[in-house]
Amino acid sequence: MAFRGLLCPVLIHITTCVRFQDEQEAAIMSPQTLQGLWNGPPLQGEEGQEVMRWVETLDAPDVYCKLLHKAAGDCADCSECAERMKRTVLNETQDEILQIVKRQEASKTSRKPLAVFVLGAVGSGKTGFIKKRLEQELGNGNGFLRSAVHINADDLRSALVGGYAIYSAMVNHKGFDRNMRWDANELRSAIQNMVWDYRVDVIADSMTLPAGVAESFLQKGFDVRVFHIEIAGSSHEEKVDRAKRDIEARVAAGGHSAPSYVAQIVRSQQSAEELRAVGVNVTSVIRRGNDFVVQ
Ligand SMILES: *[C@@H]1O[C@H](CO)[C@@H](O)[C@H](O)[C@H]1NC(C)=O
Ligand SMILES: *[C@@H]1O[C@H](CO)[C@@H](O)[C@H](O)[C@H]1NC(C)=O
Repeated sequence: MAFRGLLCPVLIHITTCVRFQDEQEAAIMSPQTLQGLWNGPPLQGEEGQEVMRWVETLDAPDVYCKLLHKAAGDCADCSECAERMKRTVLNETQDEILQIVKRQEASKTSRKPLAVFVLGAVGSGKTGFIKKRLEQELGNGNGFLRSAVHINADDLRSALVGGYAIYSAMVNHKGFDRNMRWDANELRSAIQNMVWDYRVDVIADSMTLPAGVAESFLQKGFDVRVFHIEIAGSSHEEKVDRAKRDIEARVAAGGHSAPSYVAQIVRSQQSAEELRAVGVNVTSVIRRGNDFVVQ
């Protein structure tokens, strides 16, 4: 299990991998804190009850292992199950990318591939911005979201454990297991390489983006656009309070919990500044409730 992370440097430049890992580390919080937030509906049915028993009684690594076994089917141990799940996710992603390439060839558009990164702290509203406002801001009414590969850490982690509901139940009780984060990071790196190979549009959201990653996309001929989202508020503390309320609402509706704190806002701002400093196109966005104000 200790060797899980080794694939990462093979797939992508090592510092990128390490930085991605750092970013994920920053989002960890103790299970106790997370438990305080949990009030989502328990999973239903016989299988759901089995999963709930695991998340309530086992330690995070054991829960992750059980879920991998369940999702992967016939496999000998946790790492073999994890490898199988990763292959499945990569295979599905590659099929999806090949479909996109086919559509691109059919439409004979010959523009640069677009790489869009939406940055912001936990609860800042990245998902809402992507759904409601992004295409308009790109000046691209003709379905960027349908033509782009989506890279989202929650989706990748959900795919590894058998779906979003199970993922939510797990993180809401036990936080982000280390191996789960590693496996999701490997997937993210591998998918990024596929995006580079096939030159397809991509959209990713995260707290920060290493400037080196943005520069790699630029060097590979992508049109890179970054949107940095922050909640409206006169202080970081006020923004965190609003984010927490929004996350609580998400959990109550069956979504996953995630810790929100001031350092995330600062890190995300710093990342946006570093990107601007190396000449990346960064647009600032402020969220007020469900409205997005582009600066
Ligand atoms: C993914 O797996 C399916 C079923 O095994 C296979 O038909 C397909 O060719 C695979 N896709 C890629 C890109 O390898
Ligand atoms: C920067 O990105 C914004 C938002 O997509 C876009 O409107 C603007 O034209 C871009 N600027 C350049 C110089 O590409």
